[in-house]
Amino acid sequence: MPYLDHAATTPVDPRVHRRMALCMEREGTFGNPSSTHSWGRAAAALVDEAAGQVAGLVNADSAGMVWTSGATEADNLAILGAARFAANRQRGRHVISARTEHAAVLEPLQQLEREGMEVTLLPPETDGSVTADAVAAALRDDTVLVSLMHVNNETGTVHDIAGIGEVLRDHPARFHVDAAQSAGRLLIDAEGWGVDLLSLSAHKVYGPKGVGALWVRRRPRVRLEPLLFGGGQQGGVRPGTLAPHLIAGMGEACAIAAEQLPAEGPRLAALRQRLLDRLLALDAVVLNGQRDGCPHVLNLSFGCVNGDALQAELEGLGVSAGSACSSSEQGPSHVLRALGVPDALAHSSLRFSPGRWTTEADVDRAASLVAMAVERLRAFSPAWREFVQGANLVELYGVNPGRGHASKE
Ligand SMILES: Cc1ncc(COP(=O)(O)O)c(C=O)c1O
Repeated sequence: MPYLDHAATTPVDPRVHRRMALCMEREGTFGNPSSTHSWGRAAAALVDEAAGQVAGLVNADSAGMVWTSGATEADNLAILGAARFAANRQRGRHVISARTEHAAVLEPLQQLEREGMEVTLLPPETDGSVTADAVAAALRDDTVLVSLMHVNNETGTVHDIAGIGEVLRDHPARFHVDAAQSAGRLLIDAEGWGVDLLSLSAHKVYGPKGVGALWVRRRPRVRLEPLLFGGGQQGGVRPGTLAPHLIAGMGEACAIAAEQLPAEGPRLAALRQRLLDRLLALDAVVLNGQRDGCPHVLNLSFGCVNGDALQAELEGLGVSAGSACSSSEQGPSHVLRALGVPDALAHSSLRFSPGRWTTEADVDRAASLVAMAVERLRAFSPAWREFVQGANLVELYGVNPGRGHASKE
């Protein structure tokens, strides 16, 4: 059965695995990078090399790489660290973000509110994006941080990070971008776009779980309040003994991703388009997000189908259901809700996410399995009977006709 859930996580590339194995054993680079002897120096050199590889993927200065346990920690460090640093120096207490952000951003923002800061969560456009104009309109003299993701993990919607960076160019607010989903799928120019803080995760780019990075701009220097206190590693911003095998794995994964990006981006985009064409050929299917969104994420709602039953039918297929896109989320996804997708349609949505080893045959197999499941379930659906008799999705669900693209309305 095809695995089409690479936005959730990816398998480790065998080249990455080999690199990691070389770091762990007695003959390998197992030393503590903080040690001053040759074992330590070898491990520190490995970490430096990895910083260069990660920085190369996102066009950033490698000296700003802060290693974390993943993008969740990177987001927390960026948001809590930058906002508290500014607030502690009376520079302001206002933060801008969006309703469609990942929980790893929204929850630290809630924490900031508990600490007395004011958070503006921008509503998205109908395609899920937040525009540079919307950011400009929300910006205030006391805004200290703007945090927006590059690519949305549920819909694949791409934010205009360059345009938003331009809006912020002459404003002192720090600009944080969660690039966990875009790394290795789209070009990233952290330096050129005026990004101050960039979150990355290794396991989304065929690297190991348990490691990520927060890139922190050095020129001009961006300062953060740390979340952890300890041995002073990483300039005290994120102390704790570094894990050379994980970091080397992340470095290798990013180097491979950078090398493959020019060919892999268009290949994934073609697979996404193929899937979209096949599934939009079914009636009453709505695209959630942008038609030309990030090449590895496609989110569709299947009208007149019970979401629970659809999930049960497709148990063996590696796709994500839109009803609960994170382990902490109970009801329909907050992202689809923010886009105005009615709960019943959000409940019957699926996220397809092709990856490095996905073939056209995988996509075709997934499309035919989904089509068969949808047709089977519609045979029992009163809403489908109404649809066939001429009712449209607006009448059935109250869906905003200006939103997304339905195949038949
Ligand atoms: C956009 C986004 N941010 C943050 C995360 C969290 O990443 P990690 O699993 O590395 O903590 C994810 C992964 O689910 C994500 O998609």
